[in-house]
Order: sequence, then C-alpha cells, then structure tokens
Amino acid sequence: MIATIMNTRLVRFFPLLLLAVACSAADLTGNWAITPPNAEGAKKLYFKLKQEGSNVTGTIRTEHVYYFVKESSPGPEDTTNLIASMIDNGNERFIQYQVKRVGDDLHIIYPRRRPNAPVRATVAKRVPDSEGAYPARLPIPAKLRQVPYNGLAKTPPMGWNSWNKFGAAIDDATIRAMADLMASNGMKEAGYQYINIDDGWASVRDAKGEIVPNKKFPDMKALADYVHSKGLKLGIYSSPGPDTCAGYEGSYGHEEQDAATFAKWGVDALKYDWCGAINIYTSDEMQAVYQKMGEALLATKRPILYSLCQYGRAEVWKWGPEVGGNLWRTTGDITDTWESMKGIGDRQNSLAQFAAPGHWNDPDMLEIGNGGMTDTEYRTHMSWWAMLAAPLLAGNDLRKMTPETLAILTNRDIIAIDQDKAGKQGARILRTGNLEVWLRELDGGERAIAIFNFGPEQGSVNVKWADLRIAKPVKGRDLWLQKDLTFGDALTATVPSHGTVMWRVK
Ligand code: GLA
Repeated sequence: MIATIMNTRLVRFFPLLLLAVACSAADLTGNWAITPPNAEGAKKLYFKLKQEGSNVTGTIRTEHVYYFVKESSPGPEDTTNLIASMIDNGNERFIQYQVKRVGDDLHIIYPRRRPNAPVRATVAKRVPDSEGAYPARLPIPAKLRQVPYNGLAKTPPMGWNSWNKFGAAIDDATIRAMADLMASNGMKEAGYQYINIDDGWASVRDAKGEIVPNKKFPDMKALADYVHSKGLKLGIYSSPGPDTCAGYEGSYGHEEQDAATFAKWGVDALKYDWCGAINIYTSDEMQAVYQKMGEALLATKRPILYSLCQYGRAEVWKWGPEVGGNLWRTTGDITDTWESMKGIGDRQNSLAQFAAPGHWNDPDMLEIGNGGMTDTEYRTHMSWWAMLAAPLLAGNDLRKMTPETLAILTNRDIIAIDQDKAGKQGARILRTGNLEVWLRELDGGERAIAIFNFGPEQGSVNVKWADLRIAKPVKGRDLWLQKDLTFGDALTATVPSHGTVMWRVK
C-alpha cells in the first residue's frame, strides 16, 4: 500500500501537463454506484464525491466499509487519483482508484495488483444522493452483562459451511444437496449436524424492516424444514454492521428483529461476522455489540448456536462466553493452503485454557477436500483441529468428494478425540526440529497424543516418557493406522513430511 501511495505522490508532482488535464476534466461531484455483477442480492458500491476546484472529497463504500477520500490528484489520461482511508482496529487502511467522468457516468479504474496485471475498470452510474450514505451510529448496550449460557455445544459443533468452497455463490439447491449428502454418506452418523449458509443469502429489507433472502433462497422456512427433515440443523450468517463482508445486508439496527426472523424460519445457528461493523464501532465496543445479538438470540427462546466471527480481536476468548458465544474465531480467514492451515494451527497453542464445554476456540472451518493440500496434509489438518477441540465444519463440495476425503472427515477415532466430553483443548509439549508433540487430556484419564512433522523431510522423535513427564502408557491405538500399540520407555515415531501420527493412550 505504501508503495502505491508513493507512486501516486510521484504522479502528483508531474508538472503542467497533468495540471492542464485536471482542469479540463469534468466535475466528479455526484453519487455514483456500481452494481456488483453476478452477485444476486449484493449491495451497490458507492462513490459519493464532491469536487471543489481540483480537490475531491467524499466517501467510497466498498463491499463492507466506508472509506473517506483523503487525497485527490491528477492522474494520466484525464483521470483523477483518489486515495481514501478508514480506521480499522486502530490502523489506517488505504484504497486507491483512478476515476474519470465520461458523459453521465463515472469510470473507475482499479489499482493494478501486480505491475503487469491487466487494467480492471468498471462504470459507476449516477444515483440519488440519499443512497449509500455512511450510516448514523446507533447506541450499543451501555452495560456489559453475562448473557446466560444457551446450553448448546457441550462438545465442539460439527457440520458443514458454504464459504470455503462456494463463497457468496451459494443457493437453496446447493444447501439441499449438501443436506442430502451429509444425511446419507456417513457424515451424519459420524456426528456432523449443522448445514451452515454463510455470506451471500440476504437481499434488502421489506417495508416492516424484515430481512428478505435474495432470489437464490426463495423460501428460507421451507429450506430449514427440509434440512430438519434430514435430521440436521440449519445455520445462517449476518453481521453487526450494516453490511456483511461480501456486501450483503447486515443486522445493524435490526438485531432483535433479525434474531426473531431467524427463529421464525427455524434457524439453529448464527455466525455473526464483524466485517461491516469495522469502522462503525471500535474494537473496545465489540463485546457490547456481540452481547446485543447474544441477548436477542436468547430472547427468541429457540436454541440458536452463537458463533462469533471477529478474527480473534480484542482477546475474544476472554469474553466470548459472557456474550453468549458458543464459539469464537481466533484468527483471520483460512485458505486452502498448507501455509495458511499451519499458520493458524500455530497460533492456537496459548489459547487452550479458554476452551470448555459450551465455549470453543474456533481456528476456522476445514479445507479438507478442497484440493489445495495433499491428503497427508489434510490428515494433519483434521488431527490438529481434533487436538484443539475445534469446531469441525467441513468446507468442501460433498458431491465431489474422493473416498480419501470422506475417510478423513469421518475417521471416528479422530472425531472421538475432538468430541471428548471433558472439553480440554490440547497443547504442544515438545518441539524437536521440525517435529512437535501435542497432548490432549481426555475424559477418564486417557490422552491423545499427536506427533506432527512440519518439515520437508520424513522425521522421527525418540524421547523418554519420563522426560515428557508422562507415565509410560499401558496401551494405545494408532488412530490413522487403526492398529493397537505397545510402548517402551520412550515415545518413538517416524512421521512423513507434513504428516501426523496420532494416538489414543491409556
Ligand atoms: C469473513 C469471514 C469468513 C466468511 C466471509 C464471508 O471473511 O471470516 O469466514 O464468513 O467473511 O464474507
């Protein structure tokens, strides 16, 4: 970002030619909107600009936040460079565009992502000034209170979520297909329960302010009934801000009403994503904001699992249970790469003490089966999340699963570790070179041991049980090889690169 701003500054100091261009450019004043293509129900993006001489001010509303124009300067070919910024979590974040008035339209040219990337441009149309205004700030609960526990998620929630595979391109038919599959492919029997619609389902509000699903979800109540008829539960997604991350309607100012609507539809879980609230509230106000929805969900009297998604900000693990949260994301978004999964796993070690029945650290949804990692790596993903007592939300297309993917997702022995009713999250007990040994205390005095190899070559561990301050196990089982084990005086294991050996021991 700094580099792009520097470039813009350089451009600004290009002398007279550019100045002349700027003077001849048509006035940018107006409210200009872009309708996102192929995004049924998504809101428009707004450039609300005011030009005085060569100076341009105003707001730019991207998918989920408002940026304020800070600098304008003449750009090439009759364009004007705009630099806008916003404050997120105390940090100033910038965006930059080149804009140009063409007839009654505003042409928007996006900054290049890479030096030789093709130029991306779009046309914004003039709309009434009343649209897309930066919303007035609404009051938040003045008092922090303990929202009573809803009694759900005694073990980490298991299910499926649409985001990792489908993004906002999700619809009723796909959700039904996932429910059909989960109910028939062995996942339901293995413990998977929730089918969660992530971002992309909403459209506008009706005259009474009730949120209306977009055309891709013609009848949310019927969909919930269908999912329930399969013995499964339906989850939905919203934001405490006016907009969701992908630019759909959020619950801002409609918290109680939306909770009541979700309950009326028969929804069983809500993922509540901070995105659109980022520059409306401050991070210090997050707890009160999440409390508001926690209370609203409880007031519906319907058991609704409450999933906090604010990327682990403001030490959410310390107050997640207080706002009625059953799970809270601990990091930014996972992607389907070894580096992303590994990076997230690494950051969970210090959080073990905050997990307990009813209240879980959420290192984000599974990427197993999405194609960006090997099956060995996906087994590590599954093992690690089980050691962490993490929610197990599959994120792949269940219609196109390989037998290996299904076997990984439904390994009952691994799932039993994840779902252990003592609810104690595991942690690292040894790091030796690229290998790590993690331990999780289980109900009834048993233990799960995972030996991860994060390195590029096969590796081994050989450590005396005494040095690990663990009594030599009497017996045990290898949970991936599905075979019984006997033990000597040392914990010994050979693990392939990026692989995991996982045991349950007595
Ligand atoms: C955020 C969340 C993701 C997903 C998207 C949807 O990035 O962290 O898990 O819900 O929003 O837009």
